[in-house]
Amino acid sequence: MARLAILEYPDPRLRIRAEPVTKFDAEVQKLVADMLETMYAAPGIGLAATQVNVHKRILVCDVAIEGKQPYCLINPEIVHAEGQTNAEEGCLSVPEFYDYVDRAALIRVKAFDPQGRPFEFQADGLLAVCIQHEMDHLEGKLFVDYLSELKRERLRKKASKKAKRAQHDGSDTHVPSSVPVI
Ligand code: NI
Repeated sequence: MARLAILEYPDPRLRIRAEPVTKFDAEVQKLVADMLETMYAAPGIGLAATQVNVHKRILVCDVAIEGKQPYCLINPEIVHAEGQTNAEEGCLSVPEFYDYVDRAALIRVKAFDPQGRPFEFQADGLLAVCIQHEMDHLEGKLFVDYLSELKRERLRKKASKKAKRAQHDGSDTHVPSSVPVI
């Protein structure tokens, strides 16, 4: 297994729409294992293949509070959605930035596992939020796209300041947060 590099906003490769997986082979299975390792190491609770610059419809997540309960969804599709929730989100591709986003409260999802077997399940709470956030990544969409122009302007300034700071002294400050980083 290997840890993969995570693309960060405003990298234009985060905007590429992912293609469906057609072959469930060893390459896909290795990618899933690497994505899980990368997500746990970050640490984050979800990761889409887009974020590691692989433009295939694959996502992993794990919202378990204790122990590990990994999910891997390939070619995921939301077949039913209801209700509304508004939770604070973060993203491994948008470090140190958090905000509230409206999502469906309950979803029914169809997907394939890494061996190509279809499955269907219902998710609510943080798992539902996480899956919707990751599925957006596969469309080239980021959670910050839902925010007001004013907030996005603030984010752009923050990102360019961070880039300058990293150029200047190579430092990258990290503020720990209790907000889920998806
Ligand atoms: Ni994300």
